[in-house]
Amino acid sequence: MKILGIETSCDETSAAVVENGRNVLSCVTASQIKRHSKFGGVVPEIASREHILKIGEVVKTSLEDAELTLKEIDAIAVTNTPGLVGCLLVGINFAKGLSFSLRKPLIAVNHLKSHIAANYICHKNLKPPFLALIISGGHSNIVEVKEFCEFYGISKTVDDSIGEAFDKIGRALNLSYPAGPKIDELSKNIEKTKYSFPKPKVRDNPLNFSFSGVKTAVLNKLKEEKEKNNVIKIEDFAASFQKTICEIVCEKVSAAINFKKNKKLVVCGGVSANSKIREELKKLSKTLKFELFLPELKYCTDNAAMVASQAFFEFENGNLQKDFSLNAISCYSF
Ligand code: KG4
Ligand code: ZN
Repeated sequence: MKILGIETSCDETSAAVVENGRNVLSCVTASQIKRHSKFGGVVPEIASREHILKIGEVVKTSLEDAELTLKEIDAIAVTNTPGLVGCLLVGINFAKGLSFSLRKPLIAVNHLKSHIAANYICHKNLKPPFLALIISGGHSNIVEVKEFCEFYGISKTVDDSIGEAFDKIGRALNLSYPAGPKIDELSKNIEKTKYSFPKPKVRDNPLNFSFSGVKTAVLNKLKEEKEKNNVIKIEDFAASFQKTICEIVCEKVSAAINFKKNKKLVVCGGVSANSKIREELKKLSKTLKFELFLPELKYCTDNAAMVASQAFFEFENGNLQKDFSLNAISCYSF
């Protein structure tokens, strides 16, 4: 079964054709990073308008790359939640138009579930049950995935998401949006970290994440160093911050693995591209003896291949849209 997936939840306009949830025939992504970088984050109105400009061409190219015509596509899938409403609506309406005119099924896909599905593309034999660590620009979750379409949240962030923390610290260090990859790069040559930042204690659910405390600690230290007229090396801040973030991630993963006694961990989302987090999780998987699944770098950040992949499993589960009332929903929690 060949599914055309469409992703417009934030700042990437992406379309892909994926066969049976695993085999990517094409994936085309138009990034808007250049349009937003000077603002230090995604500007929703600009993002929606960019999607409008790009979506037709991106879908056309994804079909050409797959060497398929629209008639040869079996279903249309689109991200409908969570995300920026104006952005989601562009993809949803485009998908509805295709589904209506072609008389092909329409499948709504949850963005976070699709991030997990990126791993079905990269690991052909991977199937639930497993634990999933979702670390993206908007989310930080640990989820128990019992079936392809059955998810139970066991941990979330109580304040900022992990990607937000990277991007906000980056802004304070005068790095352009998205700062995550730049912090990753700047940290690479630092052998010994200069600063140490506190790790949060989260009340109620110790598995929950919190990143605002680390962020504030970094910002305060930066201010202190400036006030003392000390020479500021942004590499030191980047590496020390990244190390603390890695420690938080590894602590939460260890606790979740021990709590759920699950020996498979699937990692996904934009921040799963971080080289230090990947390295530390690999070490942890050896110590705690769990199987670790990481997506290829190109499938960490937003893309439509992951949408078409999850859509296949939604289709198999009978989760099709019965009419054309599909709407965008900005927030979602497991
Ligand atoms: O999953 P994603 O593309 O979008 C959302 O669903 O939010 O994630 C984007 C986030 C941004 O915050 C970006 O800074 C972060 O992923 N990111 C990274 C790296 N590459 C992307 N963060 C840390 N290290 C990286 N190498
Ligand atoms: Zn995402």
